[in-house]
Amino acid sequence: MTYSSTRCRNVFLAVLTGFVTLMLPYVADTKPATFLENFYITWSDSHIKQLDDGMAIQLLLDENSGCGFGSKSKYLFGRVSMKIKLIPGDSAGTVTAFYMNSDTDAIRDELDFEFLGNRTGQPYSVQTNVYANGKGDREQRINLWFDPAADFHTYSILWNHQHVVFYVDEVPIRVYKNNEDKGIAYPKMQPMGVYSTLWEADDWATRGGIEKIDWNKAPFYAYYKDFDIEGCTVPGPTTCSSNPSNWWEGATYQHLDSVAARRYRWVRVNHMVYDYCTDKNRNPITPPECMAGI
Ligand SMILES: *[C@@H]1O[C@H](CO)[C@@H](O)[C@H](O)[C@H]1NC(C)=O
Repeated sequence: MTYSSTRCRNVFLAVLTGFVTLMLPYVADTKPATFLENFYITWSDSHIKQLDDGMAIQLLLDENSGCGFGSKSKYLFGRVSMKIKLIPGDSAGTVTAFYMNSDTDAIRDELDFEFLGNRTGQPYSVQTNVYANGKGDREQRINLWFDPAADFHTYSILWNHQHVVFYVDEVPIRVYKNNEDKGIAYPKMQPMGVYSTLWEADDWATRGGIEKIDWNKAPFYAYYKDFDIEGCTVPGPTTCSSNPSNWWEGATYQHLDSVAARRYRWVRVNHMVYDYCTDKNRNPITPPECMAGI
């Protein structure tokens, strides 16, 4: 063996060892769960199929039914994330939702991702909404910069005492800050469950309801995997809600760092197609959480 190849191998081993050391705690923390460890079927057993020994699932929508699932536990703060591959081709009139909900109607807290289907070749829209203490009507929409039906992408919600951030892969697409000190409601008292549904909503979903679902293209399939929920399970330790040792409450998660802030601006400038904040017909008076500097 020549000097250079030995050296090369040693460098390689050093890099590899460093890499493994760095990766180990990460891998241990985020071992993906099987579907049934965290979730149960809330709607139409016959339309949800487990794949890959329960590590992935397929949701089906046909003329008889859509379907849905929910988490067995509720969580107070944390981060939920999963990989989703949406309905390919003609998905107009379909909605795939991934959300957290307190299940308390009048004073509901809810954090929504809704993927609105479209005709073949037209972009999916991702609608987000935030309900705090029973009030929603905070829709924003972006068009995705990739085809979300071609591959799995990661969709996550980070929820801590400072803000709620919706992420598509590593890109923040929505931030709802805690502005309680300015009298703006923030979800923080009620634990929320994690839910997903696939259903027909062709009265509003695509181009405001103009594009109808084409049942000749049914059944429609969406796929999920890498279910990852890290949060304070409720009921659980009473220290949980304010415990600063929970990683999602840590300093780096209290605001967007400069890279994340730049990505967020990029989404808002280039991909935002609707914002309730600037919809003067709906909101002649700008909602307080939309004011500059907030
Ligand atoms: C569907 O495609 C049309 C045409 O490109 C676009 O205006 C619309 O924002 C897209 N999304 C939805 C959900 O209608």
